[in-house]
Amino acid sequence: MSDRRGFYLRRLHSLSGIFPIGAYLVAHIFLENSFILAGAERFALVPQFFSTFPGALLLAVEVLFIWTPLLFHSAYGFLRVGQAELENPLRNDYLGAYLYTLQRVSGVLAFFFIGYHVWSTRIQYYLGNAEISYAFMHAKMIDPLVFAAYLIGVLACVFHFTNGIWTFCITWGITVGPRAQRTLRAACLAFFAFMYGTALAILMAFRA
Ligand code: HEM
Repeated sequence: MSDRRGFYLRRLHSLSGIFPIGAYLVAHIFLENSFILAGAERFALVPQFFSTFPGALLLAVEVLFIWTPLLFHSAYGFLRVGQAELENPLRNDYLGAYLYTLQRVSGVLAFFFIGYHVWSTRIQYYLGNAEISYAFMHAKMIDPLVFAAYLIGVLACVFHFTNGIWTFCITWGITVGPRAQRTLRAACLAFFAFMYGTALAILMAFRA
């Protein structure tokens, strides 16, 4: 019975990493914050668009579709961090063993970064202490400590997600043979470079 429960929990943990959390991360970088790459005026359209929704509805959607799955994924993730699986097939080769460890380290870093990021942006917005704008983000990014926290925190989130796509496909039996797994691993590392490159350009644009 507890084996079965463990199986479903692991599957739910795995799925929640891709959808909705990973899907939200993709949207947050490529569909929301990327607007800053076209200038501060274009970026202003994003908070303007979200302000057309009733605040309570937006908060309910965030709690239901982002924060609850993220809290579940984090809580179960911390449990998994404590379980070192020396026989895990993902650790079979040299790079795989590194990525396995980095997946856990990046999850923990992501947890603290997301906590800080949400507290200093969304929660301050809901408390009425901040308006999300270029000026607001610029003031943060010119502080070297905050900028460094973003460089590292976003790196952890993007690595954790893109490497997670690779492990997700193994968990769900999508990539079965070693050749398919190696090919997808290369594709995921390339996607990591593209996604983090975009995120870096966004952070630099807020800093400028
Ligand atoms: C940006 C937020 C996050 C995203 C997009 C995300 C996404 C993912 C994905 C896609 C996987 C792969 C699932 C699989 O191998 O089947 C995964 C695994 C994992 N995540 Fe997250 N995650 C996030 C935050 C966190 C946090 C805050 C923790 C807390 C420690 C965490 C801990 C883990 C662990 C330990 C694994 C490996 C599980 C295993 O090997 O069975 N994740 N995550």
